[in-house]
Order: sequence, then structure tokens, then C-alpha cells
Amino acid sequence: MDESRRKFLLSGWKIGGAALIGAAVYTAYEALRPLAGGAGGTKLKVGPPDNFAKDTSTYFPEGRLYVVNAKGDLLALSQKCPHLGCKVPFCESSGRFECACHGSIFDIGGEYITGPSPRGMDRYPLDVKGDTVVVDTGSLEPGPDRGAKKYFEPPKGPSCLK
Ligand code: FES
Repeated sequence: MDESRRKFLLSGWKIGGAALIGAAVYTAYEALRPLAGGAGGTKLKVGPPDNFAKDTSTYFPEGRLYVVNAKGDLLALSQKCPHLGCKVPFCESSGRFECACHGSIFDIGGEYITGPSPRGMDRYPLDVKGDTVVVDTGSLEPGPDRGAKKYFEPPKGPSCLK
């Protein structure tokens, strides 16, 4: 093998190795970093409490969260599934959050019902200040343990999961 070809192959290995190390570092960072607030840690104003009718879920893309009215309690739920992080959509027909990735299901209050999720949906502190509901997106709290059943109800109708 001539010298120039040897150098070319060696530089290729170095570049490939550096790319692999970079990918590994990025993957480790993504896996280990704390759950980030969807709105970058800001206090997100989501409107007056009367906007949230009982047993409804309203999505706020700027916060990547839902504000729900569960049996009269207002809660701010992260869209991120506690299992592996997929976005969990709200299923209007069943009245539940149903993760299409691996089938975890949560009630209107984000409590665990079934599937591989280790707990209920994570949530943000929420406060009513004056006439406005304010969500603190800088303080994500882990969802309730699997056994929580405060908001459990039978499904209103068919599941959105096929
Ligand atoms: S990511 Fe939601 S069930 Fe796996």
C-alpha cells in the first residue's frame, strides 16, 4: 500500500471515530439531561379558569403541555410520556390520554391506567393569579404513582388506539 493511500485511510478512520464519539456524547446528553420545561422555564399564562370546562383537555404547543379540568381540578400535564418520551395525545372519544408508541393510557388527570409507563403523566405547578391561570414550566414534577385513582373514570367511548 502506498504512503498516500495509507494516510487517506487513516484520516478516514479518525473522522469516523470522531463522529461516533460525538454521536455517543449527544445520545448520553439527551438521555441524562433533566426533563426540560416546554416553555423554557417561563411562567406561561393560559387564560381564565372558566376557559377550562370540566373533563376537558386543552393543548398549549408553546408549553408542550395540556391544561385539563379533572373533576373540577385544574392540572398542567406534560405532553411527554413518562415511558420513553413520545408525545401523548388526548383521545376525545375515550376522554383519556393514550400514547400510541407503546400503549400507555392515562385518565383525564394524567393518572396511570395501563401500559409500560412507570407512573402517571408528569406535571407542572399551576396557579390562578387574578383572572389568569399561570403554569410554571420551570418546575416539572414527576407524575403520581401507578396506584393513584383520584380521577379514574371508565372510558367515555372507544379508544383512539387501534
Ligand atoms: S413512550 Fe408512551 S408508552 Fe412508550
